[in-house]
Amino acid sequence: MKSFEIVSGDITKIQADAIVNAANTTLLGGGGVDGAIHRAAGPELLAECRKLHGCATGEAKITEGYHLPAKYVIHTPGPIWNGGTHHEQDLLRNSYRNSLALAEAHGCRSVAFPSISTGVYHYPLDQAAAIAVRTIRSFLKHAKKVGKVTMVCFDPKTQAAYEHADRITHV
Ligand code: APR
Repeated sequence: MKSFEIVSGDITKIQADAIVNAANTTLLGGGGVDGAIHRAAGPELLAECRKLHGCATGEAKITEGYHLPAKYVIHTPGPIWNGGTHHEQDLLRNSYRNSLALAEAHGCRSVAFPSISTGVYHYPLDQAAAIAVRTIRSFLKHAKKVGKVTMVCFDPKTQAAYEHADRITHV
């Protein structure tokens, strides 16, 4: 039975096969969830990321999880919001799609996402949530390995936005 769940919490504590990192294109760490994941994983994560030579917006790259409960970290730079006229919607959809494809290719049964781009990158929360929910749900319909996707919300406002998006998308 495949499932998509929306929970509140800290993604660095989530016991999923893979957790997704809202990274930047250098893949060399940062603030927000990126900083939290690197702190929890330990320095080997950055050492492995250095070998990846960055990642384009909307693309995704995978590393080990090191000291995290998750086996893998999938790093994807979401788009920086720039008014909505610079293909931000497609780029955000690609971040979710490419992360899920990588998880599938690595035989992950469970994947956890943060709310990509809605922090420092200022993507409008409701629009981002609608894209995320639609992309995740349509992926799950055809997924062979991934059976559980979790959206891990760091604050109540974010959780409410994803729950609302899921209600109106799910009908
Ligand atoms: N667990 C889950 N979600 C978290 C956590 C955490 N431990 N910490 C922060 N978040 C949430 C934020 O509250 C926000 O809802 O992750 C979401 C994404 O926010 P950011 O981390 O700011 O990511 P983003 O908006 O994609 O900006 C990426 O920020 O940290 C830098 O290096 C990163 O340059 C990149 C940029």
